[in-house]
Amino acid sequence: MIIQKQNGKVVPVKSSGREKFKMVAKTMMGLEEILAEELRGCGAENIECGSRAVTFEGDMRVLYRANYTCRTALAILKPFAEFEANNEQQLYDQVYQIRWEKILDVDCTFMIDSVTSGDIFTHSYYAALKTKDAIVDRFRRNFGQRPTIDTETPDYKFNLHIRDNQVTLLINSSGDSLHKRGYRQAVGIAPINEVLAAGLIKLTGWKCDTNFYDPMCGSGTLVIEAAMMANNIPAQYYRGGKFAFKRWKEFNLGEWKSVKEQEDRKIGAGDYDCEIWGNDIDMQVLQQAEKNLEFTKLHKDVMLFCGSFEDQDPPEGKTLIVTNPPYGERIKIEDLNAMYEQLGDTFKKKYGENCEVWLITSDFEAMKHIGLKPSKKIPLLNGQLDCRFLKFELYEGSKKASKL
Ligand SMILES: C[S@@+](CC[C@H](N)C(=O)[O-])C[C@H]1O[C@@H](n2cnc3c(N)ncnc32)[C@H](O)[C@@H]1O
Repeated sequence: MIIQKQNGKVVPVKSSGREKFKMVAKTMMGLEEILAEELRGCGAENIECGSRAVTFEGDMRVLYRANYTCRTALAILKPFAEFEANNEQQLYDQVYQIRWEKILDVDCTFMIDSVTSGDIFTHSYYAALKTKDAIVDRFRRNFGQRPTIDTETPDYKFNLHIRDNQVTLLINSSGDSLHKRGYRQAVGIAPINEVLAAGLIKLTGWKCDTNFYDPMCGSGTLVIEAAMMANNIPAQYYRGGKFAFKRWKEFNLGEWKSVKEQEDRKIGAGDYDCEIWGNDIDMQVLQQAEKNLEFTKLHKDVMLFCGSFEDQDPPEGKTLIVTNPPYGERIKIEDLNAMYEQLGDTFKKKYGENCEVWLITSDFEAMKHIGLKPSKKIPLLNGQLDCRFLKFELYEGSKKASKL
């Protein structure tokens, strides 16, 4: 169901599976363009990049496909009400008007995430509380019962966006964040977020036509994401079909199955011809990588090595190296500067011209010790950490000071 505003009123509009509607895909800072490209591949139209979000249009099949395949999306949201509110009472009244019983059942659970900006709604928490009150009051008055709040594992997640007096309510079609791919059986101390890992690989422009190597692979996120890409495995193949849209009243099982089958048929179709390698100094963390790989059945696609990065040669031939070394935040290294210097030396001495190296770090001081000048610096966030994703092209005499 779509609810539109007409003449200032909130009006529900029934949507068939093929009707197009607006959606918002959430992502991480710096990955918006990459996600826009992925959405284009899902058949999305009128795509526009925002800040950590991409808006687009499509029908329910596009919504299913975006959820199932987009590697750089955190969630796909569907706006269902837009109206103006100049104070809390107006917000309450407008939310109360929405026919929530068409969306929710009385015995379900829900939660509201809110983001507000402007001078009217200065506390996002209170705006969410007012919205929640209006929903439960409507249920209580009409049905004598009300759905309950669950902030951990709710059946329905809503997003409340208020900019000045413009209110938008969106329903989250994904449920759990899409970085939860379902393949993590074990984690290291500092695993990289799966969406960020996929985004890093896509930012390099890798077409699965060169080898891929992560010399500090930890529990294997980057090599698993690379192997999934090389095998055309949909991003949520291992999620066990857990999506919030399946609870929607308009959910169409036949359409969902057909989208899923179409995507699953592409698995392995790429017939890639490259090596995917991971290396780590810590055997325990490598065993976790192995567990994750076994779960995905990609253990034959990825070779794992145990040792310090400087002792391990990369695969022969053209190789893309993408790595997420310790930043000194969660993994403490005695002398991080020395470690980065060693990394730079290894790039120059061991990797050579056949390799293109990309590295993400938040430690700008240690980075200066790598002794190479990056040819690209992409600002990204890893959690709350301000990071740079740096590209090094290796060639004879590439030893110049790194400047961030
Ligand atoms: C930030 S973590 C990488 C996390 C990984 N991307 C993941 O998703 O699990 C950094 C990794 O570098 C490894 N490491 C530290 N020093 C190393 C060295 N000298 N050689 C190889 N690996 C090293 C650590 O064991 C750790 O697993």
